[in-house]
Amino acid sequence: MRRLAILISGRGSNMRALAEACAAPGFPAEPAVVIADRPDAAGLAAARNLGIDTAVVDRRGHSTRESFDAALDAGIAARGADLVCLAGFMRLLGPDFVARWRDRLVNVHPSLLPAFKGLDTHARALAAGVRIAGCTVHFVRPALDAGPIIAQAAVPVRPGDAAAGLARRVLAEEHRIYPLAVRWIAEGRVRIAGEAVVVDGAAAMLNLMPKAPP
Ligand code: GAR
Repeated sequence: MRRLAILISGRGSNMRALAEACAAPGFPAEPAVVIADRPDAAGLAAARNLGIDTAVVDRRGHSTRESFDAALDAGIAARGADLVCLAGFMRLLGPDFVARWRDRLVNVHPSLLPAFKGLDTHARALAAGVRIAGCTVHFVRPALDAGPIIAQAAVPVRPGDAAAGLARRVLAEEHRIYPLAVRWIAEGRVRIAGEAVVVDGAAAMLNLMPKAPP
């Protein structure tokens, strides 16, 4: 059973999707702790309501990134977590932290990486006129929104789409593929070959496209 440390900065809907997946019988992971980098993160209350241990490592309480990362690391280790899931965690982690958790640190991002790293992904995707948007779950490397891709889901852009509507449809896919990727990792089916990920069991890769045309 993998033990998840889920790191959030805000709403925490991906955290909830992970926690709900963990609650299903036979899911090979359990939430060990939800940690927020700000005390007002709305997801903290949601996590407590789900009966999950929570902690705050307040970014304002640390004058250096190293000291913040060390406090985060201590909070994770204290709960015996062995897989760190960034779920709307809006802070770049330092190279030491990323190296220490290498291949045990994953993130969800609301674009088809490597396109549209960073913030405001949906507005930028619409401005670029892409026809297919989507989301990515990937292992974390030190650069922003970089690292081996575990799962992606495609979301068609509709004529006249606004960023908020596209964000909503992409978020629904994030909630589907993040638990799926965590399950693959926890089942020991994920290997990294070079900078690409291989998932053992070809059937696993077949259900990532939208189920029906919009
Ligand atoms: C999600 O869309 C997630 O992909 C994004 O923030 C949102 C958090 O929502 N993360 C990033 O942009 C990281 N680069 P949530 O708090 O409801 O899960």
